[in-house]
Amino acid sequence: MSHKNSIDLQKVPQHIAIIMDGNGRWAKQQGESRIYGHYEGVNSVRDVVEGAGEVGVKYITLYAFSTENWNRPKEEVDALMELLVSTISAETPQLNKKNVRLQAIGNLDSLPPACLQELNESIDLTSKNTGLTLVLALSYSSKWELLSAVKQIAVDVKKGILSPDAISEEHIKKYLCTKQIPDPELMIRTSGEHRISNFLLWQLAYAEFYFTEKLWPDFRKEDLYEAILNYQNRERRFGKTSEQLTQTK
Ligand code: FPP
Repeated sequence: MSHKNSIDLQKVPQHIAIIMDGNGRWAKQQGESRIYGHYEGVNSVRDVVEGAGEVGVKYITLYAFSTENWNRPKEEVDALMELLVSTISAETPQLNKKNVRLQAIGNLDSLPPACLQELNESIDLTSKNTGLTLVLALSYSSKWELLSAVKQIAVDVKKGILSPDAISEEHIKKYLCTKQIPDPELMIRTSGEHRISNFLLWQLAYAEFYFTEKLWPDFRKEDLYEAILNYQNRERRFGKTSEQLTQTK
């Protein structure tokens, strides 16, 4: 029986963030080049996005390329950028068919012009869709994001628009790439690594973490459902006690 049938559709996390890890190791196991693993990873992306939409997830954020990934061998970076362009271009009609809206976060101006253009076109073409929002984190790192938020707040203070005493969580949120997006309730990382690797540090403050040994190219919607079920069996206390939570029910 599919895990899907056991999911409580009233308690599905509205936002799931995923660190898609293990493409390189998966390819090595097959005796192939690392980029082959990234190509296979696209099949997992397609399946997981479809699966998330089927159970009513509203946002899914995929860590597709980190700021640190620019330090990989040029051949791999170039191949990843080409893969992004070809995937976004090929998948846009399907995104529209499935009512998926594409968005992106990160230092997007640092992407190659062809990649940025394809991305912006797809974001534009899918902007009216009302189902799942697929957010690609590209050239993204949380420290970069927080640093730029701090700089923008400093400018507001310098201009006299904001006083240092008045700076609140809301001001910080306003300058994050995710200002329009609710924080993820669930973060999944594949490949057995237990790190968050500079991903959504602010936004994951109260998220539940789910780690699986599966390598990303082997991860499918059924694995997503298993993670959602695991999430639904946890008690989210937000700093309160179990008793307080029962009283407010
Ligand atoms: C991490 O595995 C994966 C990446 C850095 C790239 C992920 C990109 C894709 C799956 C393509 C996505 C495309 C779209 C359109 C979203 P790794 O290379 O670090 O694996 P390793 O840890 O085994 O070396």
